[in-house]
Amino acid sequence: MTGVAILGSTGSVGKSTLDVIARHPDRFRVLALAARGRRELLLEQCLAFRPELAVLAEPEGARELAAALKQHGLRTAVLTGEAGLAAAATLPGAEIVMAAIVGAAGLRSTFAAARAGRRVLLANKEALVMSGRLLLEAVAAGGAALLPIDSEHNAIFQCLPPGPAGVRAPGVRRVWLTASGGPFLRWPAARLASVTPEEACAHPRWVMGRKISVDSATLMNKGLELIEAELLFGLAPGGVEVVVHPESIVHSLVEYVDGSTLAQLGNPDMRTPIAHALAWPERIESGVESLDLLRLGALRFEAPDRSQFPCLKLAEAATRTGGTAPALLNAANEVAVAAFLEGRLNFTAIAEVIERVLQRLAAGPVASLEDVLAADADARREAGGLIGASGGVAA
Ligand SMILES: NC(=O)c1ccc[n+]([C@@H]2O[C@H](COP(=O)([O-])OP(=O)(O)OC[C@H]3O[C@@H](n4cnc5c(N)ncnc54)[C@H](OP(=O)(O)O)[C@@H]3O)[C@@H](O)[C@H]2O)c1
Repeated sequence: MTGVAILGSTGSVGKSTLDVIARHPDRFRVLALAARGRRELLLEQCLAFRPELAVLAEPEGARELAAALKQHGLRTAVLTGEAGLAAAATLPGAEIVMAAIVGAAGLRSTFAAARAGRRVLLANKEALVMSGRLLLEAVAAGGAALLPIDSEHNAIFQCLPPGPAGVRAPGVRRVWLTASGGPFLRWPAARLASVTPEEACAHPRWVMGRKISVDSATLMNKGLELIEAELLFGLAPGGVEVVVHPESIVHSLVEYVDGSTLAQLGNPDMRTPIAHALAWPERIESGVESLDLLRLGALRFEAPDRSQFPCLKLAEAATRTGGTAPALLNAANEVAVAAFLEGRLNFTAIAEVIERVLQRLAAGPVASLEDVLAADADARREAGGLIGASGGVAA
């Protein structure tokens, strides 16, 4: 039996992880579950999987969860806050930690799991984008393994020979990162300003949390993924090429110097990369339907439109700048996306906020996690100040 801790269990990736685990009760045991505020769902998950530990970031909800669990006769311990997340990430016996908290909120717990030498299943790309090589160093120092959950990075991982995270595999010419193009592919630029949160969250291929859905619509998700891919696979800026592939069947490709290009294909369902990483190097059933090649029809590939979706360009510039630039980019994006989802910012102003933050704040070197957290705080303050009440960006 392999013990598993799921950080962000009530989210889209967390629920898919529990779906896969439920198919293999003889193989995995859920030891810890953690979420922010969705108490009722976390309670349901605790009743179904009977973990040793449940964590709810909101203290009031945690107290109510503890009382409800007691009422049901469960001996699950309940903790709260960052200390609770660290306890879940390092719980004895939990060999696998699914890092599926969204955004910078997952940074410390992902590090805790890496330092404790766990097999870290990395969905929380923001943690890696922010901290860069620091996370890879923590993985190496802790003797941990880092397995990518993003379908694209999991695809690349599957197309590469085995090797440590952060080291370029021999013979690789470049990596092709596929992008669905999001819900607004080929929309006229003029229509983008009035896009609503509901439209932005209605992704044509994937069902995901709201923040990543907006990131997919702006193409910032692909920008974050580009930085993630450079770090995970030891590639220099320019070593990752983004290509729009609206069908989302080819999840990414690796091109070798001899002209071979390897790809991983599958239906767009996160349970495939999750099952792959849970069982690696073995293979297990995920519940995902077989790919019906005869019914697929044509697969299309095209260049992304960086003028229509400037977030991709901003991420490419941030990775070239290096240092704290990706952390600044990530934090400004998180603040702008939250404001958009709350109806306080226009869709097209998301990129404007990020660009202005990157112009105003100089990137510095990253020597420690404190440097990353300081950059994150500065960019949040700056972005917050730029977002006016009018839906646009303050001068
Ligand atoms: N969804 C996908 O298909 C997909 C694909 C690839 C990568 N990813 C990445 O996976 C991560 C999760 O995405 P998602 O779509 O699953 O997001 P989501 O549906 O919004 O779920 C986020 C999860 O994080 C929890 N959370 C948020 N803030 C927290 C905090 N401060 N403390 C503890 N828990 C916290 C949420 O708890 P509550 O529910 O209680 O708020 C929820 O369980 C993101 O980094 C995303 O980029 C997602």
